[in-house]
Amino acid sequence: MPDSPHSFGLVDVPGAVPLLGHLRAFRQHPLKSLSAWWRQHGDALRFRLGPKTFYLFSHPDLAEEILVKQSDRFVKVYNPQKPHGLALVLGNGLVTSSGELWKRHRRIIQPIFHRSRMAAMADRMAQVGEQRLAMWKDREGDTIDIAAEMMQLALEVISQTMFTTSMAQHTDRISHALQVSIKYAFDSFSNPLSLPLWVPTARNREFRSVMQFMDGLMYGLLAERRQSGAHHDDLLDLLLHARDEETGEGLSDQELRDETLTIFAAGHETTANALAWTWYLLATHHEAKARFHEEVDRVLQGRTPTAEDLEHLPYTRAIFEESLRLYPPVPAVHRKAATNTIVGGLSLPEGVFVLVGTYNLHRHQDFWTDPDHFRPERWLDGERPRSRYAYMPFGAGPRTCVGLHFASVEGPLLLALIGERYDPQLAQDHVEPYLMVTLRPKGGIKMRLQPRRVPVVV
Ligand code: HEM
Repeated sequence: MPDSPHSFGLVDVPGAVPLLGHLRAFRQHPLKSLSAWWRQHGDALRFRLGPKTFYLFSHPDLAEEILVKQSDRFVKVYNPQKPHGLALVLGNGLVTSSGELWKRHRRIIQPIFHRSRMAAMADRMAQVGEQRLAMWKDREGDTIDIAAEMMQLALEVISQTMFTTSMAQHTDRISHALQVSIKYAFDSFSNPLSLPLWVPTARNREFRSVMQFMDGLMYGLLAERRQSGAHHDDLLDLLLHARDEETGEGLSDQELRDETLTIFAAGHETTANALAWTWYLLATHHEAKARFHEEVDRVLQGRTPTAEDLEHLPYTRAIFEESLRLYPPVPAVHRKAATNTIVGGLSLPEGVFVLVGTYNLHRHQDFWTDPDHFRPERWLDGERPRSRYAYMPFGAGPRTCVGLHFASVEGPLLLALIGERYDPQLAQDHVEPYLMVTLRPKGGIKMRLQPRRVPVVV
């Protein structure tokens, strides 16, 4: 039986060395460390990265305490005065901000993601998908990196839906800039020994240069819209016209930059990784793939999918849900204790860091049947996890992903659109999951772009 909420024993992860603690193992294999420590030592663990103490919680009751019940005591870890980690890249945007500023900006941004807008968004997503597939025509039979392809596709989806603009000519540079900056952010969080940004190392210079490029892109986007005065009813319009209820003031340029870059980055990296993992899972599970093909062929009959079609594609949606379970794009949610507090009977001192281990929760034996196996059927057979917080790919509580509905349409829609025409075949032996803020396939996933013969409907 699962533990009761008050009976957690805390285990110190063995192997800490003086000063560095568990830094070496964690930096070498962050995901493997979090998963192996949990499997060996249990649901409530403590470890150290240099001077920082971390708690790793991998039980739904603890997740609920941190993210929902005591969410006001477990805050985001970023300090706008001393930015580190993701805040170095995203500034004070929705992912990294806290308090009143976060509340106000979430109120401004939330309406763009309302369910009622999703049908129109879905049409746009499908259009972008079709454009991408047209580019694949010349590459049929070639070996491609499906992870890079999904990154470019999701990037263009977010640009077209949120900013009504195409980034197609810049995708290579943007992907590179985000890769460099996110790696830098992750290192600055996980390596307390990394040198501060003002030190002119090659690494710091590279980071500055990619950030300059991203800033230029975001400020350019804003300037262009202001100049043209065009009205697009998109996120950019919402942000530019937002006014503070009390002061009547709009967002500053810095705030606008932070929010556009946040949506841009958070809105494609996660979905792209989820899609890449899904193609990998389908390529390695032939029965599931056959059922997927049968469903998309039967329901779509060669058409481009729409939002309404998703209702009739339950297996496709289940595949996406199951992929998010096995490879959650955000495998651990990070918080800091704002005050001394008690969680699951454990005393946590102010200032310690907490990781809620989503990856571990999603594979927890006490809450799932056959947890390590890809079984999309579980979502159709009504087999729900034995606790609500054993499945939380989009987080939980007040900081739940603002793009949840968007991603839940985008993922299955693009899967159906591509799966109708292509059957990507795995062209490498081993794919390694790698944690770098999000859960990526290390080095990408090579797949052969195999066209499908769609049955002719008479
Ligand atoms: C499969 C796709 C996605 C996954 C798995 C995902 C996952 C998450 C998770 C776990 C969080 C909570 C992090 C925390 O509590 O610290 C989050 C927050 C967020 N996500 Fe997503 N996300 C996805 C897609 C998107 C999309 C498409 C957008 C925007 C278009 C987006 C924008 C955001 C933003 C702005 C936040 C911060 C929300 C806040 O703190 O108020 N995400 N996401």
